[in-house]
Amino acid sequence: MSILITNIKELLQVRETNVTIVKGEDMKILPMLKNAYVFIEHDTIVEYGSMDDCNGMEADEVIDATGKIVLPTWCDSHTHIVYAGDRTQEFADRINGLSYEDIANRGGGILNSAETLQNTSEDDLYNQASKRLTEVIKLGTGAIEIKSGYGLTIEAELKMLRVIKRLKHNFPISIKPTLLAAHALPKAFKDNKTGFIDLVVNEMIPAAAKDNLADYIDVFCEKGYFNLEDTERVLKAGIEHGMTPKIHVNQFNAFGGVALGVKYNALSVDHLEELNSVDITALQQSNTIAVALPSCSYFLSIPYTPGRAIIDAGLPLALATDYNPGSTPSGNMNFVVSTACIKMKLTPEEAINAATINGAYAMGISNLYGSICRGKKANLIITKKLPNYYHLPYAFGDNAIETVIINGEKI
Ligand code: NIG
Ligand code: FE
Repeated sequence: MSILITNIKELLQVRETNVTIVKGEDMKILPMLKNAYVFIEHDTIVEYGSMDDCNGMEADEVIDATGKIVLPTWCDSHTHIVYAGDRTQEFADRINGLSYEDIANRGGGILNSAETLQNTSEDDLYNQASKRLTEVIKLGTGAIEIKSGYGLTIEAELKMLRVIKRLKHNFPISIKPTLLAAHALPKAFKDNKTGFIDLVVNEMIPAAAKDNLADYIDVFCEKGYFNLEDTERVLKAGIEHGMTPKIHVNQFNAFGGVALGVKYNALSVDHLEELNSVDITALQQSNTIAVALPSCSYFLSIPYTPGRAIIDAGLPLALATDYNPGSTPSGNMNFVVSTACIKMKLTPEEAINAATINGAYAMGISNLYGSICRGKKANLIITKKLPNYYHLPYAFGDNAIETVIINGEKI
């Protein structure tokens, strides 16, 4: 099967060489071809170029993209889309004045979702998650990371990871699984945090590793959740079992979690709504990428990650949704890109780099995803007719996507 996309008004994120991350100043550059074509064979981008060089090319299907923009699909490197039910009551409670912290302190929040998930069958959980995944693919997501963390018992955490595995098997997009057993302290361990970390380290991590269910190890490193010492124990155990750290840090408080992540060669440190100069210096001495989650800031009305400061310090930045029932009930990467421009003051070029190639880096898959490059996966968004690519972030809330191609097939 081959597809030829012709007359593309703007072909974004074209990379002659297989760049796998863009940092600092380079994030301002989004390489683009006007009046271009892309030729796809099976699941791979085989060729692209100017329409002037497209003469005589044939394919099983030709898509005329006159007036339209083509770009790589979004790479969403931080989600919790396997969850059960919703938290609409807490949404209303927050509107009525309670904070995210207040709700967690009275036993709601993550513990609320954990209770619902523990009482949901594996098939039901799969069905709920697959609906969300189907929706986000239509919104242009072509690679995604999914975390556990609403189980909080061995059985329920493994149930979540098996659901992720089943999604991975049944969906065409790239899915990376993460074990986030240390997401909140379950009620049964209310006065025994060490006991819970023992369980995570001695049982949950080995069980997930035995069945090869997680590539990454995550911890919610935050006041009221897990401190540096807890985080270090979990990261060490994850690493011993072949998992790479990818952690939640600095969502509400900055107290050294970034440097700890860097010490353990975390692939990414995510959230960073609170960030100080020590954190920035730690990142400058690492291969760890910062991941910002602007939809979470929007939904919780908390500060936005200082993406401008991160990029201006010469660092790479990725953008992701954080899709979850509590802090971000949305998996729309188009909104994320737009919000990063409007609220974090990223340029459209920086935001698109952060949501494509750098998102792929934050999942360890940027050798095959995140740019238009010969030999990479044919995962593409074709927009409706648009004046130019600035309309993607500018016309916030609009759905500019007309067609999504995953592995060389139209969805
Ligand atoms: O990334 N902050 C920790 N975990 C999720 C939210 C969890 C929840 O509220 O259900 C997040 O925002
Ligand atoms: Fe998260």
